[in-house]
Amino acid sequence: MLTLRSSDDGRSNRFAVGLFTPLPTRYDRLAELLSFGQNGRWRREMVGHVVTDDPALVLDVATGPGGVARQVVRRSSARVVGLDVTAAMLAAASDLVAADGVADRVSLVQATGERLPFPDGTFDALTFTYLLRYVPDPAAVVAELARVVRPGGAIASLEFHVPPSPAWRTAWWAYTRAVLPLAGALTGGREWYEVGRFLGPSISGHYRRFPLEWTIGAWRRAGIVEVGHRQMSLGGGLVMWGRKGHA
Ligand SMILES: C[S@@+](CC[C@H](N)C(=O)[O-])C[C@H]1O[C@@H](n2cnc3c(N)ncnc32)[C@H](O)[C@@H]1O
Repeated sequence: MLTLRSSDDGRSNRFAVGLFTPLPTRYDRLAELLSFGQNGRWRREMVGHVVTDDPALVLDVATGPGGVARQVVRRSSARVVGLDVTAAMLAAASDLVAADGVADRVSLVQATGERLPFPDGTFDALTFTYLLRYVPDPAAVVAELARVVRPGGAIASLEFHVPPSPAWRTAWWAYTRAVLPLAGALTGGREWYEVGRFLGPSISGHYRRFPLEWTIGAWRRAGIVEVGHRQMSLGGGLVMWGRKGHA
């Protein structure tokens, strides 16, 4: 079921919507390509941090075509709300949720991570994936995400990262700057060429402004406790987790 709710019309939201609107077809396959074939591993690790509590209601922010939401449903008895700013992504999610036969357990909402249309403490757990590079104020978004989780509820995220070792960073740089745009073009045409070209500089630029230590601090300042992280695949993927603190 697709529910249209409030949509923030900010400049960054328009950029994300423009970037993601042509992408839902073949998204999951191409996400593997853009993550060096590691997206599935990273996603399983992240989802593991929220399903261990067997939550009743989970919010998945930046759900895209719903891959994380559908995996949470498969691995727990939870009902899931998948939220995204891009209508085309939610339309793809709606089809995939129906194909999985879990439409009674997944609701889809069009809104932004900056302004979630839910009261404080609504959810038992929350996941968000590849979101913070698209928002101008990541700390404010992390605080808004934490707001809607009940005290004690699990929060987990997945994002790309820059490998810390200089040798792997050089290889990563060459892959993201040279191979990705070409591989994107060959497999997905002009739109995926643009994504391939955008991704490397977007990741590097994000961590220049908001390094990992800063991000951990932003989670803590948002009232998230027991914050942990794991850099996976030589540091190309970053899974973070924590719990909403008791005020
Ligand atoms: C790379 S996709 C990730 C999709 C999905 N989480 C996955 O892992 O397959 C990023 C998603 O973030 C969404 N997005 C970007 N900025 C957003 C915002 N401010 N609020 C909500 N969704 C946003 C985009 O529309 C896009 O669907």
